[in-house]
Amino acid sequence: MSPMQPEFLAQFPEKLRSVGRIVERGIDALLQPTTSGDEIIRPKGLLDAMRYAVLDGGKRLRPFLLIETAALMDVPPAQALRAACALEMVHGYSLVHDDLPAMDNDDMRRGRATVHRAFDEATAILVGDSLLTYAFDILADAQTHPDAHIRLKLVQKLAQAAGLGGMAGGQWLDLAAEASPRALTQAEILQLQAMKTGALLTCAVASGAILAGTSPGQTRALLTYAENLGIAFQIADDILDVEGDAATLGKQAQKDAERNKGTLVQILGLAGAKALRDQKLEAGLKALDEAGFGDRAQWLRAAAHFVAHRES
Ligand code: IPE
Ligand code: IPE
Ligand code: MG
Ligand code: MG
Ligand code: MG
Repeated sequence: MSPMQPEFLAQFPEKLRSVGRIVERGIDALLQPTTSGDEIIRPKGLLDAMRYAVLDGGKRLRPFLLIETAALMDVPPAQALRAACALEMVHGYSLVHDDLPAMDNDDMRRGRATVHRAFDEATAILVGDSLLTYAFDILADAQTHPDAHIRLKLVQKLAQAAGLGGMAGGQWLDLAAEASPRALTQAEILQLQAMKTGALLTCAVASGAILAGTSPGQTRALLTYAENLGIAFQIADDILDVEGDAATLGKQAQKDAERNKGTLVQILGLAGAKALRDQKLEAGLKALDEAGFGDRAQWLRAAAHFVAHRES
């Protein structure tokens, strides 16, 4: 395996912040009062709540993965940025709905009140609806890519990652597990997490690969990298729920056990979950090496380390 060059790891947080600033500007520019196409008006109150939900916060990991995958093959940055903003809007929507009283019932997100707390529940539901649909509008627009075939692939990839067989389906399984008297098996938890969290992270890399036109072999290796990173990411989230604190996380900690969430920490314990997280990290890095991008993939390599060992 190619060794991780320590300078990439040390510089990763700053690199992530710098890509995050570009994404912030991209989302800000897309969420303006001026209408686009056949839209009638953009109601100010709803637009304000959408901006509150997705601006000024978040690690921007999914946009980072999309942009850096696209950068492996010199995709024009403006194209990657639009696809990255669309994906981050879907992620933002998933968080707004995840926090609703009918789901995880959380009051804090990204260090401030959740959208249904800062506004109201109906607004939070409609913020989610509007972010989700806007993402597809952005992808379908010719500014995202001149080739309609590529745009269609991006749209379908995101739809499958976000919907019934992806994030939304995984969220349903997560809530069903809470209500179930039986603890889930490891295989069931891995599947649930591959859906609720892994799907959008994998979609980031897949979308970058679609824009970049990577070969089928490289694409397969990149997707294996992303799937393993997705698992490591959610195990890290579940570990942080136990070991982290609200001030660092920007969201309440120690809630999963109380809610009977099906997590790998619950069935394997902290040490077992950490061992599995590190195993997934190694598997992801190995797949990335096999993709054959050599040193060009150093940021993606650093991203996997960061995701697995993050503190927030
Ligand atoms: C939190 O995702 C929700 C999960 C999928 C576990 P992130 O940890 O990426 O949240 P932000 O975007 O940085 O706030
Ligand atoms: C949320 O998982 C996953 C999605 C939003 C799709 P969690 O419920 O564990 O995320 P946090 O801990 O609230 O961020
Ligand atoms: Mg949840
Ligand atoms: Mg939650
Ligand atoms: Mg969590």
